[in-house]
Amino acid sequence: MIRIGIDYYPEHWDCSLWEEDAARMEALGVHVVRIGEFAWSRLEPRDGVFDFTWLDDAIGVLARHNMKIILGTPTNCAPMWLYHSHPDTLQWGPDGRPTGTGLRGHRCMTSFTFRKYAARIITELAKRYAGRPEIFAWQLDNELESNHCTCPSCQTAFRGWLKEKYGTLDALNKTWGSEVWSGEISGWDQIVPPQGTENKPDWYNPAYMLDYERFAAASLTDFVKFQCGIIRGYDPQAVITTNACFPRHMPDFHQEFAPLDVASYDNYPPVRLPEDPEELYSNAFALDFVRGFKNQNFWILEQLGGPMGCWAPISPAMEPGMLEGYALQAAAHGADLISFFRWRTSYTGAEMFCHGLLDHSNVPNRRLTELEQLCRRLEKLPELGNTTVHSQVAMLYSADQEFTLKNQEQGQGFSYWKQMRLFHDACMNLGVNVDVVEERTPLDGYKVVIVPTHFITDPDVVARLEDFTRRGGSVVVTCRSGVKDKNGNCILGQELPTLFRALCGCRVTEYDAIGPATQELTLERGGRYQITGWCDLIEPDTAQVLARYQGRFYSGVPAITKNAFGSGCAYYVGAVGERALYCTLLLTVFREQGIPVSRLPQGVELTVRSGPSGTYQFYFNNTAHSHDVEADGQKVHLQPFEMKIRTQGAWA
Ligand code: GAL
Repeated sequence: MIRIGIDYYPEHWDCSLWEEDAARMEALGVHVVRIGEFAWSRLEPRDGVFDFTWLDDAIGVLARHNMKIILGTPTNCAPMWLYHSHPDTLQWGPDGRPTGTGLRGHRCMTSFTFRKYAARIITELAKRYAGRPEIFAWQLDNELESNHCTCPSCQTAFRGWLKEKYGTLDALNKTWGSEVWSGEISGWDQIVPPQGTENKPDWYNPAYMLDYERFAAASLTDFVKFQCGIIRGYDPQAVITTNACFPRHMPDFHQEFAPLDVASYDNYPPVRLPEDPEELYSNAFALDFVRGFKNQNFWILEQLGGPMGCWAPISPAMEPGMLEGYALQAAAHGADLISFFRWRTSYTGAEMFCHGLLDHSNVPNRRLTELEQLCRRLEKLPELGNTTVHSQVAMLYSADQEFTLKNQEQGQGFSYWKQMRLFHDACMNLGVNVDVVEERTPLDGYKVVIVPTHFITDPDVVARLEDFTRRGGSVVVTCRSGVKDKNGNCILGQELPTLFRALCGCRVTEYDAIGPATQELTLERGGRYQITGWCDLIEPDTAQVLARYQGRFYSGVPAITKNAFGSGCAYYVGAVGERALYCTLLLTVFREQGIPVSRLPQGVELTVRSGPSGTYQFYFNNTAHSHDVEADGQKVHLQPFEMKIRTQGAWA
């Protein structure tokens, strides 16, 4: 069963409304309610003075209406009395000063005092609620980011992390290349988190920045483990998650979710469709990416339930079909629980005008009707929850690549996400399921592995890709792979793609970081495509040439190659091209591997979930126009944002 949930803030509303709210949710077909993640000041109004009566009552009302509860730990918003009486609980910003209070997320994750108070409130909650039948799961904090606090406690934590990693300053200086610009460190206390980096992170030593990002991610994971430890102390069976988003300071999601039971994501597809049709698959990418955090089905803890408004001007109204369509799109990519943000539209305090399912008027509306329709539809598919997305195609990702490439742009506009997105979009356009997996994930069961910019080069990953190819797989490697070692320094004494040279059967004799300028290439089989961003000038060793540049001083030089390796083959894509190039290329790769493809209109998706109980094909139209597609020889008409589901040869 796919569960539908609601994000609810009983503490914001008069308790006389709770009963009515719960009854309405029940009638709609809602099963789960997520509460409590910002309620610390109501749970502990004064230091050590706790009040759980309102939460007991709210849970009681909801449970009487058959709701299961996802209970938040409230650590994102410490009460004002705590910041005021213990300023060491406050985060410091990149300017090296304490953050001003008034918004949320001000807490320092490493502060000894904050941890003490956080442990106390989580303990009180766990003592009271852990293991109770109403509690379905726990959500930790809210939309956690990597820990970029610069306070004294985080400075000490950063030094401690480095001491453990390097042991001596000699080893650290050697790895970081600190001799450049006289950056040599002669005492541990000279090391501080990067400050004033808002505009110029790329001026810092890249090896130091990589270690800092790794520390910041590890520090967040430690915070996650700290909270899990308390809850599991009271209920070892507790199901624990946290709601991911893609924030400015990206965590290492795979590490962050390792101690958790399920990955969760806050899914806010833009209400206004992107003008660039190439962006129409961005939700699909986000959902596939999240499924890869634990390589299993995931939850949506906040799903778009109304026009946004509070951080920015109020967004346009949701188009008819969007509410249901986007929720089913999440299910199609592996979501097993979808909780809508939020029940009632906020009327006071921060987040005023952040629209929920219900308007200020309290009168039933179009969004509620769609929600009910969604619930009824899912009720007819009780077995869907026992299925998952099975893919023959994997795309490798790692936090190290993300951390490094974000701080060291390879050519103007060169982006790791863009590399991933170009390939992912092509998979969507061809109706092929794809898993976005951490680069060390075992590759058994896949037929094709896409390797977008394996910049920080891990010899074990290369060896596994060689083994995978030798056994008959196809690998697609792109430019800027094989550039750096694991410390973030450039690999010396070998031509690019260094460790990938044997697999790809080619070498890069020169490169041209063309940035926003354009260049062209032609496929040997015919077809001309535009290039921006990057051009590797390739010289094959054993590889066959698939495409050549047309223009500049390297007209006729190979741009894309294919190398037979064992029973499989490796493609090397030396340039960043327009979207159509990736469709053409992947069509060939998929056909060679016998992977079925469909030619879908841009913005239309076909995703398949399957399991012992059956196979479900999801046809989704994420565009403002209707489209006809073919399904098993039949014509299927899709209205804007419409999802059609086919199972056991019938439409559901
Ligand atoms: C999310 C956040 C929610 C709410 C929502 C709407 O990022 O987790 O608490 O603020 O945005 O603005």
